[in-house]
Amino acid sequence: MAGPVVFIGPMASGKSSIGRQVADLLGVPFVDTDAQIVEKLGPIPEIFASLGEAKFREIEQGVVLDALRTNTLSVVALGGGAILSEQSREALREHTVVLLMTDESTVLERANLEKRPLLRDDPSAWSRILEERLPLYREVATVEFNVATLPKDVSAAKIVAWLREEDLA
Ligand code: S3P
Repeated sequence: MAGPVVFIGPMASGKSSIGRQVADLLGVPFVDTDAQIVEKLGPIPEIFASLGEAKFREIEQGVVLDALRTNTLSVVALGGGAILSEQSREALREHTVVLLMTDESTVLERANLEKRPLLRDDPSAWSRILEERLPLYREVATVEFNVATLPKDVSAAKIVAWLREEDLA
């Protein structure tokens, strides 16, 4: 079964941008679950403010499970907290899952914190949140790439080379 190659990892690790480049290099569709949520319901900070994080997670789980339900070779980028859902982690076991790892100083240099409600008021929460989630990321990851020091196109090319080597794309 082909199905999606799924990108997971901490906030602002490059899942959307590198994921899109990988999809382009492979010539397959790209889906970004956070972008789908924004399209349906508006900006994520506003969803957190009006409905709360628990409701956001419920919405996110629905969008993630939907996005994973395809047999078409594609690339799907998830939000950093999507792996908090046990059902989503269960669904990920059937897929090739690429964990993008980076570090706090790289993220705080590059990322748009305004659109990330969990970092906006406390950027140093990034490392604490990662520490809590790391076992969950590693539980579902097929492979892990450290992308902190690399230009995005170099990371994308490395990931495509790995997918081809493993006969996964
Ligand atoms: C979140 C990550 C965000 C977004 C939301 C919550 C998280 O996506 O889904 O702000 O809990 O890690 P990115 O991983 O693209 O920042």
